[in-house]
Amino acid sequence: QLSQKSDLRARRILTRSTFATKAQTVKKTLQAGAAAGKESFSALQEERREQAERSVLISCPPNINQKKFLDYISKHGHIQNHFFYQSYGIYAVVEYATKDSITALKANCSIPSVQHEAAVPFKSRLLSLKWTGQGSQSNASNTLKLQKHLPIPVNELTQHLCKQESIDQQLQCLTDLYQLTEENISLRFLVCSLLRDIAAAYFPECIIRPFGSTVNSFGKLGCDLDMFLDLDGISGQNQRKGSGLSLEYQVKQGTSERTVTQSVLSVIGECVDQFGPGCVGVQKILNARCPLVRFAHQPSGFQCDLTANNRVAMKSSELLFVYGKLDARVRHLVFAVRCWARVHGITSSIPGAWITNFSLTVLVLFFLQRRTQPLLPTLDQLRDLADPSDQCVIEGNECTIVSDLSKIKLQKNTDTLEKLLQEFFEFYGNFAFSSTSINIRKGKEQNKPESTPLHIQNPFETGLNISKNVNTTQLERFVALCRESAWLLEQKEVLKRSAGQSADVIPPWGLAALLLPSVAQSAGVKGRRKKKHHPASERIKSLLESLKSSSGGAGAKQSAV
Ligand code: CTP
Ligand code: MG
Repeated sequence: QLSQKSDLRARRILTRSTFATKAQTVKKTLQAGAAAGKESFSALQEERREQAERSVLISCPPNINQKKFLDYISKHGHIQNHFFYQSYGIYAVVEYATKDSITALKANCSIPSVQHEAAVPFKSRLLSLKWTGQGSQSNASNTLKLQKHLPIPVNELTQHLCKQESIDQQLQCLTDLYQLTEENISLRFLVCSLLRDIAAAYFPECIIRPFGSTVNSFGKLGCDLDMFLDLDGISGQNQRKGSGLSLEYQVKQGTSERTVTQSVLSVIGECVDQFGPGCVGVQKILNARCPLVRFAHQPSGFQCDLTANNRVAMKSSELLFVYGKLDARVRHLVFAVRCWARVHGITSSIPGAWITNFSLTVLVLFFLQRRTQPLLPTLDQLRDLADPSDQCVIEGNECTIVSDLSKIKLQKNTDTLEKLLQEFFEFYGNFAFSSTSINIRKGKEQNKPESTPLHIQNPFETGLNISKNVNTTQLERFVALCRESAWLLEQKEVLKRSAGQSADVIPPWGLAALLLPSVAQSAGVKGRRKKKHHPASERIKSLLESLKSSSGGAGAKQSAV
């Protein structure tokens, strides 16, 4: 056991030093990356983190005037970037050119004197701008350009989709409307940086890094903010050799890595709850497989999940990012499938037996690896192309992937998005889920190692199933919907936009038709027996009827997703 432990430690140190070396070369990589028109994943994250550290979040009075605001705020330093958005009131994100400006700005801020309550005197970078009563107040707020941080409702989305010329264009349009904006990503990094300031009271060298859909390029506006507390930078120091003496910190010992993580998260969670401005509804979920602190960050509107020690999840975010970068069709297909699944209640914001967006993404990647001309390489191929500097082993898991994407030679696959979408539904409508496991490392179906309804191997922690939570009912709903959607995409009424309609009222077609309420599902809700008695012709008829009777306002009954 002891030797296992020291082996684990050695492996962890190996990972740490890989990261430390990476951090040192970030600047170089950034320059080289910028020159080549591409940036590696870690360099991009580092750049955004550094920008966030030079930024502040300011709640503004409703009648703020942009010029007056900028004149006042820029007294403390040169502003590199800024934008406004609406959450509970108007907020501004201001990125200064240097960190010193923040020190100057903070020197001018005061702790508010609250009348009947008391304030925790914690000086964060979340500020409020108030009128003092001197000078003129303008009411030019309507001139402010406010960034959108939430997706448009589905009925508006389907209207946009109907106006496109082809299904391929529809998928591109969906990605454009739903994907995270640069500003939204900046705000996410800023929230991590603000939380870091709280955790830094205990661990000055810590970093809070976003992972999951914030950074994997598949994030949709409104998605949660997954972050992890990275303490690895603290223990990476080498001892000076030669003196025959060495000093080390006395530390409190925990019984396992897990108990240490739990106690660190418990304390940080408590601080976020008690001292974190704008952080509400803090829940400590420390007994989960991956202990976490969940809360809402009100000023940004983000639902936050803070974990610790979660490097493998960061690596899978990088893997998804790499796959998303290799071919533009990957992101379009993933956005379409995720949206389709959400509209039909295949995925949910509530944890449970549903398929998750992460699992759906891996299903899409696997499908793309299984084309006759594979559109994506396998994870083993990405590992084989890696440089020695890409070597990465985390807690005993082989996590190496190539970082220089120019080394990846893709096969010539010219499938249209329409074809890919249709065949995705056919593929999973007829997949042998009962006997087969999905494995993107090998890019091949494998025998299922356990009897859970859906088995998708975790790409890096290969002993884990990422869809362990999915029950038979949810898998059956997914398969039934895949079959129905595959069938819909064979109908000529669905495949082509109808001609001769006014520009505003176009019946749902293509992807928009797939987002209409499903017949299979409504029959499923009433009971499976009833569904079996529905003749296929009747189902087809009622689906087509629902397509015809729906106009440009189709889906109005569907809630925003
Ligand atoms: N993750 C994992 N294994 C799981 C679930 C999640 O490794 N069983 C990791 C993945 O890297 C995933 C991240 O945790 O991207 C965040 O999980 P989650 O928030 O569920 O997924 P997202 O990809 O962020 O998608 P969403 O937009 O639904 O938040
Ligand atoms: Mg997430």
